[in-house]
Parts: sequence; C-alpha cells; structure tokens
Amino acid sequence: MSATMAASRILFLSSLLLSFFMASYGAGNLQQNFDITWGDGRAQILNNGELLTLSLDKISGSGFQSKNQYLFGKIDMQLKLVPGNSAGTVTAYYLSSLGSTHDEIDFEFLGNLSGDPYILHTNVFTQGKGNREQQFYLWFDPTKDFHTYSVLWNPQHILFSVDGTPIREFKNLESRGIPFPKNQPMWIYSSLWNADDWATRGGLVKTDWSKAPFIASYRNFNSQACIWTSGSSSCSSNSNNNSTSWLKEGLDSTGQAKIKWVQSNYMIYNYCTDTKRFPQGLPLECTLTT
Ligand SMILES: *[C@@H]1O[C@H](CO)[C@@H](O)[C@H](O)[C@H]1NC(C)=O
Ligand SMILES: *[C@@H]1O[C@H](CO)[C@@H](O)[C@H](O)[C@H]1NC(C)=O
Ligand SMILES: *[C@@H]1O[C@H](CO)[C@@H](O)[C@H](O)[C@H]1NC(C)=O
Repeated sequence: MSATMAASRILFLSSLLLSFFMASYGAGNLQQNFDITWGDGRAQILNNGELLTLSLDKISGSGFQSKNQYLFGKIDMQLKLVPGNSAGTVTAYYLSSLGSTHDEIDFEFLGNLSGDPYILHTNVFTQGKGNREQQFYLWFDPTKDFHTYSVLWNPQHILFSVDGTPIREFKNLESRGIPFPKNQPMWIYSSLWNADDWATRGGLVKTDWSKAPFIASYRNFNSQACIWTSGSSSCSSNSNNNSTSWLKEGLDSTGQAKIKWVQSNYMIYNYCTDTKRFPQGLPLECTLTT
C-alpha cells in the first residue's frame, strides 16, 4: 500500500469514526428534548431523533413541546420551512410560560405562494402583553435548506438571530418601568397550522389544500440553558462558571451593526414606528434611546 493510499485510508477511517461520534451525539437529541403534543400522527421524530417533521392537512396541523422548562437560555434550532405553495400556513416556533400574565418569545413563519417571500414574524410578550410585532423578509429561501433560528434570553436582553445574524433585540428596561421576562419559566413549542384568514397578504391568499400535506422539518436542536425543575434552576450551582457565560452575553458593536443592516434592508413591519396604531403614543420601549 502506497503512503498516499494509507493516508487516504486513515482519513477515511477517521472521518467514519467522526461521523459515528457525531451521529451518536445527535442521536436521540430531539427525542430526548421534545414530546409531540398534538396532530394525531402528523408529527414525527425520525432518524433516531435527528429529525422532526410537522405536517398539516385539511383535517389538522401538528405540534411539539419541550420536555423541560427553561428560565434563560441560548437556544438554537434548525428549521426547513414548508416548500412550494405554502400560502395560508404558519409555522410557529416559540418559548412561552403559562397563564394570562405569561411571557412569550415568538418566531412565526408565514407561508406564501411559490417564489413569493415568507414573512418572519416576531413578537415578545411580557406579563401577558404582546403587541410588539416586528416582521422581516429573509435574505435566503428558507424552504431550500435548514437555517438556524436562535434565541438568546438572559437577564439583560432577548436577542433573536438567524444563522448567527442578530435581527432583533428586546432589552431589559425594567428600570424604566417596562416588564421583562425573568421570573416565569418557559417551554419551547412549535406548531404548523392553517391561518389563511390572516397569514398571507393579510388573508387574501388561501391555503391550496390540493398541495397538502404541508411539511416543516427540524434538526440540530442545541441549547445552553437553565433548566427549571420544581422551583430551582440548573444554573444556580454553576453561575460563576464558563458553562453559563452566555448569561452575561451582551450585544457588541458588530452585532448592533448587523441588526441595523437587517432592520434597514429586510424589516417590513415595526410596531415601534406604527404611529397610526398607537395614536395615544408609541410604546415606551420604542421611545427610549438606551
Ligand atoms: C407574499 O408575497 C407577497 C407578494 O410578493 C408579499 O406582498 C407578501 O409580503 C408575502 N408574504 C406574505 C406572508 O404574505
Ligand atoms: C461548573 O459547572 C459544572 C457543570 O456545568 C459543574 O459541574 C462545576 O462544579 C462548576 N464549577 C464551578 C467552579 O462552579
Ligand atoms: C472562560 O471563558 C473565557 C472567555 O470566554 C476564557 O478566556 C477562559 O479561558 C475560560 N476559562 C476556562 C477555565 O475555560
């Protein structure tokens, strides 16, 4: 055997070994972290937990929920959205606590006709109050490949990111009298459902059921988070430790520039500039400069 053959053989074996470890690391991931909660068999966890699919047809949508509750976290999920004619469908991926004064951090993907752009709709609820919508087009086709949608939620702020690019920040402005989510643990939820009364061009375009079932896919769930179990946080024992350094992570000037870039090129709705909607004055957080 020549040296190059031996080398390529070693390379081959080590990549085999690597993919084995990666597979076993990923295996069971979604299975271990999520329960399918509704949809009567329309949601499935596949490939030993590496892939999760939601589906929607005329009879029902489907959804899943995290097994754990979290109080702060840095949470990534890769999604590939319903391809083709997805008009009328909504894929929601969000964190939420329970009750009428719940907190919530939302990504919602509003489908569209083939070739027309999805809308990424975001919102933040504090103490049961939302009305903080910001909507974006994406700089890629979210149905062709998986892309990473992330939430960094720590005591300083909530940061929404897409493929590592921050798109929206909700700062902790409690000192200015604006509630911030920090006491109510949240679950992660996702669902695929029919919303053709409002989703696409404000409800003008209806779901084409001849294209059903509609399918959205999930993989590579990755979290650094404080898991909340019967009143205590998994982070309290290692709060001075690098494994929780994300709890202090802020937004540097590069991040701020990226948000600016996204907001000036891709944002199509911002509650903070909707003076018609808030004739009595814009929400306080919109008028504060810090
Ligand atoms: C769908 O496409 C139309 C036409 O380009 C666009 O106005 C709209 O914002 C797109 N997205 C949704 C969800 O309606
Ligand atoms: C750091 O965190 C790990 C768990 O993530 C824990 O086992 C360890 O004791 C912590 N170390 C310190 C010095 O807190
Ligand atoms: C902890 O993190 C900081 C910055 O992220 C790094 O400089 C340092 O080496 C890390 N310490 C350990 C013990 O990993």
